Amino acid sequence: MDKKPAFKRYTVTSALPYANGPIHIGHLAGVYVPADIYVRFLRMNDEDVIFIGGSDEHGVPITIKALQQGVSPQDIVDKYHGIIKKSFEDFGISFDIYSRTSNKIHHETASEFFRKMYDAGQFIEKISAQYYDEATGQFLADRYITGTCPHCGNDKAYGDQCEKCGTSLNATDLIEPKSVLSGNQPVMRDTKHWFLPLDQYEPWLREWILEGHKEDWRTSVYGQCKSWIDQGLQPRAVTRDLDWGVKVPVEGAEGKVLYVWFDAPIGYISATRELTPDWEKYWKGPETKLVHFIGKDNIVFHCIIFPTMLKAEGSYILPDNVPANEFLNLEGDKISTSRNWAVWLHEYLEDFPGKQDVLRYVLTAAAPEAKDNDFTWKDFQARNNNELVAILGNFVNRTMVLTHKYFEGCVPAAAEFGDSDKAALEAMKQFPGRIAASIHAYRFREALAEMMNLARLGNKYLTDNEPWKVYAGDPVRVGTVLNISLQICAQLSIVAEPFLPFSTERIRQMLNLSSMKWSDAAALNWLPAGHALNAPSLLFEKIEDGAIEAQVQKLLNTRIANEALQAKAPVKPGKEVIQFEDFSKMDIRVGTILEAEKVAKTDKLLKLKIDTGLDQRTVVSGIAQYFKPEELIGRRVSILVNLAPRKLKGIESQGMILMAENTDGTLYFVTPGEGAVNGADIK
Ligand code: 2FM
Ligand code: ZN
Repeated sequence: MDKKPAFKRYTVTSALPYANGPIHIGHLAGVYVPADIYVRFLRMNDEDVIFIGGSDEHGVPITIKALQQGVSPQDIVDKYHGIIKKSFEDFGISFDIYSRTSNKIHHETASEFFRKMYDAGQFIEKISAQYYDEATGQFLADRYITGTCPHCGNDKAYGDQCEKCGTSLNATDLIEPKSVLSGNQPVMRDTKHWFLPLDQYEPWLREWILEGHKEDWRTSVYGQCKSWIDQGLQPRAVTRDLDWGVKVPVEGAEGKVLYVWFDAPIGYISATRELTPDWEKYWKGPETKLVHFIGKDNIVFHCIIFPTMLKAEGSYILPDNVPANEFLNLEGDKISTSRNWAVWLHEYLEDFPGKQDVLRYVLTAAAPEAKDNDFTWKDFQARNNNELVAILGNFVNRTMVLTHKYFEGCVPAAAEFGDSDKAALEAMKQFPGRIAASIHAYRFREALAEMMNLARLGNKYLTDNEPWKVYAGDPVRVGTVLNISLQICAQLSIVAEPFLPFSTERIRQMLNLSSMKWSDAAALNWLPAGHALNAPSLLFEKIEDGAIEAQVQKLLNTRIANEALQAKAPVKPGKEVIQFEDFSKMDIRVGTILEAEKVAKTDKLLKLKIDTGLDQRTVVSGIAQYFKPEELIGRRVSILVNLAPRKLKGIESQGMILMAENTDGTLYFVTPGEGAVNGADIK
């Protein structure tokens, strides 16, 4: 259903990427391609829309990278802001502004925002003891402290996490903590911070999200919000002891900056101020629809924390929707910047010049809208060769070539319509409305598939009517067939534009048409008889195996390099020999996870309900940092069922799920092969 409400204008934001690395396909599929489709569509509908992007240039990831490279944080953000901005431009992400949070206007906007809340008594002030480096005279953010992990003994654990065993830590948990800055042991010193009292907003959040957006927000977004709210909201510190960021604009806050997640979303507002003096109507007008495009890791910040800030500040509108995507994996593995497991946009643009639309198409067709999805180079090639080339490109090309061949490149007149013509024309009328409804509902995969169905319809119409066979006996009939085929090409040039802006521009150039509005898409009379067309050229070209093999090889080299690094981390030594009887005491079965939820007040534990074939039972498992509860439902596992029950956080755990653990602490399920049913004995 087209649920478009009566909004006068749209403010569309896309997550501000950290300026500490380039953009990869995961960012594109999750955020920027869907956002761009949405705004291009709105613009074609003559909507008043602004599309906001920019670099997130504060926060510890940036200062740490600067420290590692021996340069200043400004050097880091200048470098990556430039790379990111250019790659977005070249890829056709049509921001109205691509700004950056190191701009003066952002510092002013974020300061004013904080100050207004501060003056209205919206923060709680708290003093707590934190690590302080006496040699450099500064408090240490979690990542600036390393030490020995109390769980696995890794002596390079950070103040917030041990990357070897994956445990989330407090800096005070570390054994022999050291300052990254001086190498000295830090001391505890009292420091004051300002907290956003999220707990006070819980009733309002329940009403606004849990009651107000149950129907229109994606299930995964709603589910994450619900799980957060149900766990109980706590006050959150919105300031940090750091010297890189927006200074806290109150007395007694020297050496403190706003927490990056406080200032970054305000970046959307600052960018709008930078874009237009009329910025307030895009943020304060109740008839403005605010939509945030983000990845799932940003849900809590955009659905709970930022809206609470907006509500507390008091003069802003709230997001109407937050269509967060799940994650895109690459060749079966999580995309990872640190492991260089990614397809980088700037490299893609170099390796595949002029093929922006191919990637846009593939990333939309395989968009992780409802669940994580996988990008493979084979699939990229297949979608290009079998869909863009063989369906869309082939249809436009056949139509253009035949019109040049039989009618000297001029649109032939349509004579009498037969059944197949009437059916094609009738079907054409349905496409714009269907595609529009899917886009309004943020179902971009579905919208793209519908667009491709129009090209399929064109191909079938042409093939069924065989103008190349009919021409000798009935050129008038061929005129009708090509007239309708050309109208389909024109319609495609409109309805495919949000997805494939480069290619639709080329179709219109061939058809000798200027750009059109979405409302023109249902007209079916874009090309009058006699209208002169331009010369045809191929819209898409086949991607050969060699080009794909080169990309696969590139990834393989990365994998080999990563494995070599991994190999340097020794595998755990083998255990002592046991007798078969010892092993056979273990009753291990195939099971399926039926339910999963976080155990309140722990970071690590999930409570799982498992069908073991023998029964349904509860298992508490320490895997919460690796898996989201909602991702686990239906997953098949291997479970040790005769382990004596034990209580964890008051819950009786009746068994243990088998996991494989790499030396870097990453965990993987030991998944039974296809066909093994619940209760099957593992031996
Ligand atoms: O996750 C990230 O990459 C953050 N830099 C996103 C920030 S979105 C917004 F709040 F600016
Ligand atoms: Zn550890």
